[in-house]
Amino acid sequence: MMTKKDDSESRAESLLRRMTLREKIGQLMQCDRAEGNEDRIRGGSVGSVLNEADPDTVNRIQKIAVEESRLGIPLLIARDVIHGFRTLFPINPGLAATWNPELVEQGARIAALEAAATGVNWTLAPMVDIARDPRWGRIAESFGEDTCLTSVMGAAMVRGFQGEDLAAPGSIAACAKHFAGYGAAEGGRDYNSAHIPETLLRDVYLAPFKACVDEGVASFMSGFHDLNGIPCTGDAFLLRTVLKGEWQYPGFVISDYNSIQEMIIHGYCADDREAAEKAMTAGMDMEMASRVYETHLEALVSEGRLAPELIDDAVRRILGVKFRLGLFEDPYTDPAKFPAPLNAGHLAAARKTALQSAILLKNGTGALPLAPEVARLAVFGPMADDPHEQLGTWTFDRNIDDTVTPLQALRDYAGDAIRIDYLPVLEISRSTDRSDFSRAVALARESDAVLLFMGEEAIITGEAHCRADFSLPGAQEELIHELASCGTPLVLIIMAGRPLILDGVLDQVDSILFMFHPGTMGGPAIVDLLFGRESPSGKLPVTFPKMAGQVPIYYSHRNTGRPPVKEHFTHIDDIPVRAVQNSLGNESHYIDAGYEPRFVFGYGLSYTTFEYSDLQLSADGIGSEGALTVSALVTNTGSVEAEEVAQLYVRDLVASVVRPVRELKGFTRVRLKPGASMTVTFTLSAADLSFHNPRLEEVTEPGTFQVWIGGDSAGGLCGTFEFRD
Ligand code: GLC
Repeated sequence: MMTKKDDSESRAESLLRRMTLREKIGQLMQCDRAEGNEDRIRGGSVGSVLNEADPDTVNRIQKIAVEESRLGIPLLIARDVIHGFRTLFPINPGLAATWNPELVEQGARIAALEAAATGVNWTLAPMVDIARDPRWGRIAESFGEDTCLTSVMGAAMVRGFQGEDLAAPGSIAACAKHFAGYGAAEGGRDYNSAHIPETLLRDVYLAPFKACVDEGVASFMSGFHDLNGIPCTGDAFLLRTVLKGEWQYPGFVISDYNSIQEMIIHGYCADDREAAEKAMTAGMDMEMASRVYETHLEALVSEGRLAPELIDDAVRRILGVKFRLGLFEDPYTDPAKFPAPLNAGHLAAARKTALQSAILLKNGTGALPLAPEVARLAVFGPMADDPHEQLGTWTFDRNIDDTVTPLQALRDYAGDAIRIDYLPVLEISRSTDRSDFSRAVALARESDAVLLFMGEEAIITGEAHCRADFSLPGAQEELIHELASCGTPLVLIIMAGRPLILDGVLDQVDSILFMFHPGTMGGPAIVDLLFGRESPSGKLPVTFPKMAGQVPIYYSHRNTGRPPVKEHFTHIDDIPVRAVQNSLGNESHYIDAGYEPRFVFGYGLSYTTFEYSDLQLSADGIGSEGALTVSALVTNTGSVEAEEVAQLYVRDLVASVVRPVRELKGFTRVRLKPGASMTVTFTLSAADLSFHNPRLEEVTEPGTFQVWIGGDSAGGLCGTFEFRD
């Protein structure tokens, strides 16, 4: 933990005093790959290497740094270990969909162990950007739309990666990114400008980063984008005023890839020299890939354009992390000293996480779980047996042979008891080849059920891969419509990197099981769910719109002065021809889509049903001190044992800044046998109810609050309480 007091600061200080300016600047440089950079490392001109994850290579370049440079300062070896290393867990929205921070922490610990074995000592994760736009490719790396859920998951990943002691074997430094507001890119188009008023920035977008600071995250990364016209890479408000000033952050900040130099392209700097000056002045400590610091900082200091103390501060922060990692005692790795990757424990954790990440969106006819007497299954779709695509984005170090696909898991489960007719029909998610449609229809007619594995290939999600139309790509929808005519129960299992528009198929299928790319053990997890070994328990970390045109749409919106009322809604097709235009009785909605999403944040069905009762508040109000306890009874009113995520929401009814109609403030996952009940209890304090007022003061204002406990962001038991100053 970064907050543990140790001798790293004094050791960094004494080393700093022995360094030349050139050597100091060397520590601020991260090169991509080792090849071709050996002489720079030997000369003390590199502080970190990105994208080396082979133990022999890492040991070789550490040896050059330690034994051949003048001061022998070890290297930070960085890698994007985002949702696993060799054992892949679900992509981050899937991790968030578990609403299980303990599981997410365990997964990060496993990823750290597998990465550290190769000599990687720094992961460029967790990404804690709030993402409310499914068009944005990098929603696939986010924990979704909510500040509370993202904060909890981000902190859990920091704990998992860094452990209790950064120097312990298997601990690696984490990196909170992309600071800040990257997910608010206009139009959901990656790298685009973000316009966020400071009250919203602080309440929604900065809070998860603060949660990572409080958890002791070792480093930060700036975003590529401009925030309100200032590139984050050169934004002194973000890096110095907020991060290093208000938050007193002791770690260091790295730019994103070439993002210092890209400030020229932004139109914020005239040339490399100005980019170097503005970035260092703003508080950017380390440069990723580009080399403007190496080229210009020494002259900027000697000409008095930059105070040498700025360089010293940056170097001190970086050395502090290197000392805390124990690199000066042992910079090398020996894979034999680590657990084997993909061992049974790692795979079991990945399977459990994938299982808990699955969200049952529809099951009206009870087609799931499959009946025990099922004897013949038709298995179709591009995601049924694709070991690469089910892993999702950011999987540099996987071996696809390790993946267990749904088809493989089905065959293992079925043995000779169930006949499985498998036909991809569509080779990849974007395929439009309909030549196998009729064969599929014929097989479906003879089957007890059809399992359709569809979704998105990994590469049409992730960085720079934004989609203006985020429905099922290719001819997947058409195939569903063809099969719907057979009358055989249709179960659609989706693996994707973002919320999808499903309205075109919603009425065509009996059940929909949705997974954000589920990782190595996605197959066995899905089979556990399809055959009822476990009930789905995942809950949406992000809203699913009915139409792309509803974006942005998220649950914690403000009420407006003309909130929509369901009963008043008149669909575009029902508006009388030449109806009289008036401004009375109008409400905020779409005449062709209404105002509700298709699936709300926090939604997810189960094979059982849960009932909430007996909402209790410990008092009718709270003041600045003390806490309010809010509880409710959760009962499994169905026939199978299952897990439920109980969620706590609040609303501040009147305030000096209009507050959201709901905000998540707590959640807990409970497991209940049929008929069993459990009381879930949450506490609320004044701090939980605070927000930034127009004067940017963090305040909790007197007044009435609503509070809900329920199974999603739309329902639940509601109570009220007063906050009294
Ligand atoms: C990428 C990403 C960043 C990643 C870095 C190194 O462009 O924006 O998240 O950590 O480069 O791969």
